[in-house]
Amino acid sequence: MDFNLTNEQLVIQKAMRDFVEKEIAPGVMERDEKSEFPIEQFKALGKCGLNGIQYPKEYGGQGGDYISYAIAVEELSKVDGSIGIAYSVNASLYAFPIFKYGSEEIKKKYLPPVFNGTSIGAFGLTEPNAGSDAGGCVTIAKKEGDNYILNGSKCFSTNGPLADYYIVFALTEPEKGAKGLSAFVIETSWEGVSVGHIEDKMGIRSAKVSEMFLKDVKVPASNLLGEEGQGFKIAMATLDGGRIGVAAQGLGLAKGAFEIARKYMMDRKQFGKPICAQQYPAFKMAELRTKIEYSELLLYKAAQAETEHKPYTIPAAMAKLTCTDTAMEVTTQAVQFLGGNGYMKDYHVERMMRDAKITQIYEGTNEIQKLIISGSLFR
Ligand code: CAA
Repeated sequence: MDFNLTNEQLVIQKAMRDFVEKEIAPGVMERDEKSEFPIEQFKALGKCGLNGIQYPKEYGGQGGDYISYAIAVEELSKVDGSIGIAYSVNASLYAFPIFKYGSEEIKKKYLPPVFNGTSIGAFGLTEPNAGSDAGGCVTIAKKEGDNYILNGSKCFSTNGPLADYYIVFALTEPEKGAKGLSAFVIETSWEGVSVGHIEDKMGIRSAKVSEMFLKDVKVPASNLLGEEGQGFKIAMATLDGGRIGVAAQGLGLAKGAFEIARKYMMDRKQFGKPICAQQYPAFKMAELRTKIEYSELLLYKAAQAETEHKPYTIPAAMAKLTCTDTAMEVTTQAVQFLGGNGYMKDYHVERMMRDAKITQIYEGTNEIQKLIISGSLFR
């Protein structure tokens, strides 16, 4: 196993780091305060060739690997967890099922615009009564001639109010439950699609998350992804990759907060010496750095498995569980180390702590990750 990043991965890391410093860091606090999504900066990522990293060039991607993609999410999230998840949902939860299960025509139509910065994608699986129990969806897709007619609603969709396109899961055979679910790509400009409540959130405040309603929406049969009844498996396979994105977001938040705390502890003097010269905080930072290190190893291992087309459901669940728990611990400790300053908005770590919380919840709570991992142990 090679622990070094390749030249290509280092180039992406540097390009994203430069982009973040110039385009994302300015205004991050104000965007959090006002719940404003940096739409122009998001689109600029596509125009600079920094989106769709892990997809082939023929579909508008960059022909890179999954570690490069994880590094990109990490770099964004070190400074702004909101754009980190918006980017991940667009390039993973939205794009993956199209890439993997869409026809050539569908791939050529719906992938390039979300990679080149023209359009944005979202993912609609969760419903008011189908969260962790994702198979409990009740949205219906009824076949009529060459179309499906979709009726129902989705909630908690990241990018929802910004999205031009959506992956939607709906029951084509309701009597079969989860085995009757199918996946579609739809356009939000179509008649009958509407955005519902836009959520007011604790963290990732500048990311846009909303409900979506479908009323007699006519979807061409060619927009079915895979086959009828394959929807649940498509959702699960898609979430395997999505969890690598959330793990990368968590790792980025952890690294960002750690660095702020590290610098602060070298500058700030109490009891006649810098905080870092006191053994308790220094040892605590050593523990946190070690946790960041093993989180990174698990993340890159999962991303490498994806790149090598090896099974990665369990590695992705382990990476998601570990990186996001590390994010929560490091950001909380960073607030503690900065003391009164840490609690104030100017120092960023309180925002990172709020952003970290959701990483333990979405794309499968960390309890669901334990369910997936433990399920593989006792077969
Ligand atoms: N890849 C492919 N197929 C898979 C799979 C995977 N990773 N995991 C399961 N399957 C298949 C199984 O093989 C099984 O197939 P058969 O019926 O042919 O045997 C089928 O799917 C059912 O599997 P399970 O019995 O394991 O399914 P389950 O009902 O017990 O549920 C679960 C499993 C892990 C709990 C699942 O429901 C789950 O992941 N829940 C969490 C949902 C989630 O992550 N939601 C987040 C939505 S996105 C979001 O957060 C919003 C956002 O915008 C960020």
